[in-house]
Amino acid sequence: TGLTTLDVGFVNTAATRSAITYIDGDKGILRYRGYNIADVAEHSSFLETAWLLIYGELPTAEELEAFDKRVRRHTLIHEDLRRIFDALPHDAHPMSVLSSAVSALSTYYEKSRGVNDPDEIELSTIRLLSKLPVIAAYAHKKSLGHAFLYPDNSLSFVDNFLRLNFGTMAEPYVVNPVVSKALERLLILHADHEQNASTSTVRLVGSTESNIFSSISAGINALYGPLHGGANEAVLEMLQEIKDSGEGVEKFVERVKNKEPGVRLMGFGHRVYKSFDPRAQLVKESADEVLEALGVQDDLLDIAKELEAVALADEYFISRKLYPNVDFYTGVIYKAMGFPPRMFTVLFAIGRLPGWIAHWREMNDDPATRIGRPQQLYTGSPAREWPEGRPEG
Ligand code: CMC
Repeated sequence: TGLTTLDVGFVNTAATRSAITYIDGDKGILRYRGYNIADVAEHSSFLETAWLLIYGELPTAEELEAFDKRVRRHTLIHEDLRRIFDALPHDAHPMSVLSSAVSALSTYYEKSRGVNDPDEIELSTIRLLSKLPVIAAYAHKKSLGHAFLYPDNSLSFVDNFLRLNFGTMAEPYVVNPVVSKALERLLILHADHEQNASTSTVRLVGSTESNIFSSISAGINALYGPLHGGANEAVLEMLQEIKDSGEGVEKFVERVKNKEPGVRLMGFGHRVYKSFDPRAQLVKESADEVLEALGVQDDLLDIAKELEAVALADEYFISRKLYPNVDFYTGVIYKAMGFPPRMFTVLFAIGRLPGWIAHWREMNDDPATRIGRPQQLYTGSPAREWPEGRPEG
């Protein structure tokens, strides 16, 4: 229509109302359901944060206990679904494995197609929270050629996940509390970020009344890209390259500023944050704490700090309001925990899952929801005549 305006990348266009997460990008404020992110990260657990995001209020002690129990009870994945891992190459990227397996989950839960059935949506919510970490850990184990472990539901959400990733059948796995606490905190910091690309994908797919598994599988694929969740893996590759090439941080920053093709300062810049990313500050604190507690010395952390200092003092980054984002320091922590770089974005996906669920449910419950269908400004050929005498194709 004549009213259509062009907004590439949806910089100015709101597609929905939402009561879940508030961001003030100029002031560096992020709140889940009104609670400051720093408070949530300090005082809450991942499952409590999930509850807060999905249901809107902090749970009572009884509600949280029942929720935790339910999430523990649904960790098993169907034996047939386990065989999906045999069909995929052992060096498959775990993000592709994750989205495929989540998509396949909807084949096991046909009733999840009932987007008007609150009990079914509740069950799908629990199933996703329970099974995504198990699938993720199996993708990791598969890449190592290790046997899969069955979940141990006596363990907490995070400890169960750590055991499935790092435990073996050969000996009992002892959870390191420093790793467990740090991972819990990182998952909380990733739990929601309003209408980011993957969440908007989940909402767009969901707006067609597609089920929650299919919608979230699409969200995982959107997260995979290096401009979004894939940035945490890309940051580590960048730091490693700087180290291996020996070119030095200043030289690398020059290449970024010269806009050499494919060279960006990964983990820097954000569509919304224009003064700082509050998550990045909290992650940076964690990086120092975790590496120290684990007794890990990593040159990559020193390179990251130097890179940050050089960039923050440089006119190119200052004038464009580019600051470290949540992905800048996470990779160094995940690496110290023992995760390979290919698992980093998978960890982001587990963290973001409550946000995706909360948004899918908010969208599904909102009577104002309509199928998402962007407009375009057509730039192609005007109408033309089919060439006379052209042979039939
Ligand atoms: N390194 C160098 N230059 C950059 C960077 C960067 N990381 N980010 C933005 N710029 C420049 C860009 O070249 C442009 O300059 P100019 O005006 O001269 O053309 C200007 O800053 C504005 O950038 P933009 O690409 O228009 O900004 P955007 O809002 O469309 O993109 C972004 C945001 C996050 C995709 C981008 O900053 C980026 O590519 N960052 C690196 C990847 C990254 O770390 N992504 C993680 C985002 S945070 C969490 C998440 O979603 O996973």
